[in-house]
Amino acid sequence: MPGVLITIEGVEGSGKSTQLLRLSERLRHLDVPLVVTKEPGGTSLGRELRRLLLEPHSSGETWCADAELLLFYADRAQHLQRVIRPALEAGQVVLVDRFEDSTRAYQGASGVSEAALDRLNELVLRRLKPHLTVLLDMDPEVSLQRVEVRNLAYGAEFAETRFDQAALDFHRRVRNRFLAIAQAEPNRVALIPARDPMDQVASVIWSRVSALLRSAGFGVD
Ligand code: TYD
Repeated sequence: MPGVLITIEGVEGSGKSTQLLRLSERLRHLDVPLVVTKEPGGTSLGRELRRLLLEPHSSGETWCADAELLLFYADRAQHLQRVIRPALEAGQVVLVDRFEDSTRAYQGASGVSEAALDRLNELVLRRLKPHLTVLLDMDPEVSLQRVEVRNLAYGAEFAETRFDQAALDFHRRVRNRFLAIAQAEPNRVALIPARDPMDQVASVIWSRVSALLRSAGFGVD
C-alpha cells in the first residue's frame, strides 16, 4: 500500500495527545495528505465500543480478559476496514493514537497470552505493521500524577476511566511491556523519553517522522 502508517503509544499521562496534536499540525501545515485517528473510537462503532470499554461498569461486574480483548479487536477490525486501509490505499499518511502495541501492553499486563494476541493479529491485521511507532516512555508514578492534575483541572471524558484507576503496579507492567516491544523491534519503534521538555520531545519525534516521510517520497522540507 502506498500510504504510511505511524502510531503513537505510551502510558497514560505521557503527553501522547499533546505531541500528536503538534505533529499533526506540522504535517497539515506542510500539506501532507493526513488522517489522524485513534483507538479505541476511530469509527462510529468504535465510539460506542470506547464508551463500553472505558466507562466504569455500573453493574460492578468485572469483565474477563478475553471479552475485553475481543472488544478492542472489534474496534480495530472496523477501524482498519473503514478508515486505516482505505487511507493507506489512497496514499495518505495515517497517524493513530494507540494501536496493536497498546493491546500487547495493556491486555498482556492483564494476563492475555502472546499466542492469543498473535492469532488475533493474523485474523485482523493480516501482517499490517506500522512503518513507525513513536513510544513516549515515562515512569507511571509521574505520568499518573499528571493524569490526576489534568482531570482535576479540565474534567475527564468519563469522570474516571477504568484504566486510569488501575493500580500503579499494573501501569508499571504496561510500561515494561512497551519497553520490551521497543527492544524487540528497534527499527520500527522510536523510544523517546517523555519527561524531557515538550519542545525537545516534539523535535525528536519530528526528526524520526520527517526522515520516514522523506524516504517515502513526501515533501516535508
Ligand atoms: P485514552 O483515553 O485514549 O487514553 P490515553 O489518553 O491515555 O491515550 O484511553 C484508552 C485506554 O484504553 C487506555 O487506558 C489504554 C487502553 N487500551 C487498551 O487497554 N488496549 C488497547 O488495545 C487500546 C487501543 C487501548
